[in-house]
Amino acid sequence: QIKACLFDLDGVVVDTAKYHFIAWRELAQELGFDFTEADNERLKGVSRVRSLEILLEIGGIELDDKRKEQLAAQKNENYVGYIQRMNPDEILPGVEDFLKKLKENGIRIALGSASKNAPLILKQIGLTHMFDAIIDGNSVSKAKPDPEVFLKGAEALSVESGDCVVFEDAQAGIEAARNAGMHVIGIGHPDNLKNADFVIPGFEEMTIEKLKFD
Ligand code: G6P
Ligand code: MG
Repeated sequence: QIKACLFDLDGVVVDTAKYHFIAWRELAQELGFDFTEADNERLKGVSRVRSLEILLEIGGIELDDKRKEQLAAQKNENYVGYIQRMNPDEILPGVEDFLKKLKENGIRIALGSASKNAPLILKQIGLTHMFDAIIDGNSVSKAKPDPEVFLKGAEALSVESGDCVVFEDAQAGIEAARNAGMHVIGIGHPDNLKNADFVIPGFEEMTIEKLKFD
């Protein structure tokens, strides 16, 4: 019996990957190399610092920690400029209806995101009030696939791991959910998401009835 649903944010509730992409590409160009949309795929679900390291690897650039910190801050400032302009129209199709259905059925809702910008994004899209608990990049120290973010979510809701289901669009997030001992539904294409209970293209395909696992 599922008692709680835990949602990743980026790529599940909203498509922020496009803003991350623009901000990272601007940084790459400033550093003198190109950064493609295919490169951007590698950053999904990955922490800010680790994303920068992957970007620098692609550009073949080595920098000290202090400079890396500056560049990560610069990218974030740029990124925040974009998400400050987000609005409720950017909630992905079917998400809001599904959240309402969960509430009607007494199923608890938590956010489990690596992003330190999660509170701002939820505010901009007007969904903060739908979440009974918000665990984000400000409250965790270990990145997915470590289960910390989801375990903290379950704890905040006082629900056992086995009674939770996670919604994730990134492989590292699916592994994190598994490492937490939770059910997991992939959002996207099955080819890119291994080890989920099942994968759906988006929430228009999702119903309460599908929250049944053996
Ligand atoms: C999510 C996104 C990643 C992003 C990370 C940190 O996991 O999928 O692309 O790097 O959050 O986000 P932040 O907003 O803190 O830089
Ligand atoms: Mg994601």
